[in-house]
Amino acid sequence: MDWPRGLDGLSYGGDYNPEQWPEEVWDDDVLLMREAGVNLVTVGVFSWARLEPREGEYDFAWLDTVLDKLHAGGVRVNLATPTASPPPWFTLAHPDALNTRPDGVRQVHGSRDTYDVCAPAYREASRRIAAALAERYAEHPALAMWHVHNEYGSASFSEHAERAFREWLEAKYGTLDALNAAWWGSFWSQHYGEWDQILAPRATQYLANPAHELDFKRFTSDAMLEHYKEQRDLLREANPEVPITTNFVFGQWVPVDPWKWAEEVDLVAFDSYPSHPDERAEQQSALHADLSRSWAGGGDWLLMEQAAATVHSKDGSVAKSPGRMARHSMIHISRGSKGALFFQWRAGRGGAEQWHSALVPHAGKNTRMFREVVDFGNTLPGIAHTVEAPVEATVAILWSTESWWATARPHLPAPVDYLENVAQIHRVLRDRGVVVDFASPEGDLSKYSTVIAPTTYVLSKAAAENLRWFTAGGGRLVASYLTGAVDEHCQVWLDGYLGGLTDLFGIRVTEHLPQPAGERRALWNFGAAERFCELVELRGAQCVTQYATGELIEGQPAVTVNPFGEGEAWYVSCKLADDAWDRLFEELELAGPGGRGVDVVDRGEWRFIVNHTESEAQVGHVIVPAGSWAVDKKPQ
Ligand code: GAL
Repeated sequence: MDWPRGLDGLSYGGDYNPEQWPEEVWDDDVLLMREAGVNLVTVGVFSWARLEPREGEYDFAWLDTVLDKLHAGGVRVNLATPTASPPPWFTLAHPDALNTRPDGVRQVHGSRDTYDVCAPAYREASRRIAAALAERYAEHPALAMWHVHNEYGSASFSEHAERAFREWLEAKYGTLDALNAAWWGSFWSQHYGEWDQILAPRATQYLANPAHELDFKRFTSDAMLEHYKEQRDLLREANPEVPITTNFVFGQWVPVDPWKWAEEVDLVAFDSYPSHPDERAEQQSALHADLSRSWAGGGDWLLMEQAAATVHSKDGSVAKSPGRMARHSMIHISRGSKGALFFQWRAGRGGAEQWHSALVPHAGKNTRMFREVVDFGNTLPGIAHTVEAPVEATVAILWSTESWWATARPHLPAPVDYLENVAQIHRVLRDRGVVVDFASPEGDLSKYSTVIAPTTYVLSKAAAENLRWFTAGGGRLVASYLTGAVDEHCQVWLDGYLGGLTDLFGIRVTEHLPQPAGERRALWNFGAAERFCELVELRGAQCVTQYATGELIEGQPAVTVNPFGEGEAWYVSCKLADDAWDRLFEELELAGPGGRGVDVVDRGEWRFIVNHTESEAQVGHVIVPAGSWAVDKKPQ
């Protein structure tokens, strides 16, 4: 599907919330958008209370005016359904449709995202407002795209959720015997005799059952997807030509499996908010971009939100230096985003996010910030011709949503930071100039020569077979500690872990031997390991390096390689430090034209260069000034 409808270059703009401003500001908005080269804005994300002030009573007049003004100004609209923030009249009439926290506290309205996708009243109200918007705007000439809801994320542990969870479990397992077996119900007397005895995994006395918790995450992802699909289908019916999406976001709280969801959207949209102000902001942006492109199967995706002037951090936000907004945008665009959008267009005077940066700051158009916005926006049409050029990677990192969810629990042998393990491989490869894709453990790996699987803790039979097939066919697989420790029910793979792939790796992992936090364990000629180490028994594999220190592990294999079929399977039995990964990638001859601080992405006949350093960078014959970027012909 062609998207956003009516835009064939790069999209530039962001969330536009005109309902916060008097009408005279709207004309100014459109004029400023034109000046800045803005061509796409997301309207109505949190407008439910203004669109439906009382149940069944709609006020579309203001939105009609806004859309008409935008259309007259040549700005296309990504029109949202407002279901992420139900209005006060709704939650007072249906308190059971508010979300319930794991500790049983039902939240009240006063912020946003106070909804329960399993509450019948909320589902019905969501369908109603989506249908009303579809009826009124599906044929509006400004409509480029639909944006359903916003950042699906708040899980509810309510009785509604519990009821739907039981139905989901019954459909999955068929019988309670099967469920009890899958959940290892004989431990701690958790054997269920009736479906009604099963609860959502709410706050309990001590450690909860990992299989129960993982199934609840899967269920919540599916329940939210149903909510999305109901709205999507209504919008689709009203006009099949208009693409539909919702914006994905990153966070440990997010119970959405992007691989599954990506199949249900016309384009993947992602909100990128790096959480560290230093060079990790660039690393995280590149990670977000490569994940989004990969979830989209290499197809259409769009950076839907980012902050214009600041980077968030746990100590408050930090100002972006001049040019950093453009470079962050270019990280995404070079990695395949069809544009750069922001939250939000005009900084609000009030409300919870009044201090969030925006394209038009409080001080208005005569500001450094707005000048940067205008400069960058007017540059983008100059690279519009690169939009369709594909990013072609030969190296993939496995992204296992379930391993992320399942390792974020306190019962593992030692804490595992799955996201950091993935991000670490991504950043070390990025520093070596390698642009990677991400792949699903059960997805098609055939186009990659190397697949790196960091801590793929949950490995289903199907995923294990996929890795075996990939390696046998000539692929190079590199897996790290805790790979295939458990199956899809969080049950341990017996006789050597590794998802039953001991023959593929030519080893057995016989014990987990976590080391004290903060103590590094040197490897022979190979950097060091941190915290997590395993005891490995060779069964045909060669030892690449050994632990040089550490009780029980000294002299034992740390990294191994095993020829298998036409390919080879490498195993890293510990959490390597960055320098050790770098050493391993050198051994594997993984390197590209970029380097630390200088992103180089080749796409078809084009080469994108983004220089994040404080000195001039030369890549081939192209010289890119400090803190700047360039797009040129790729050298032949
Ligand atoms: C996003 C959200 C926006 C805005 C932004 C800045 O997660 O979708 O509505 O809140 O964060 O915090």
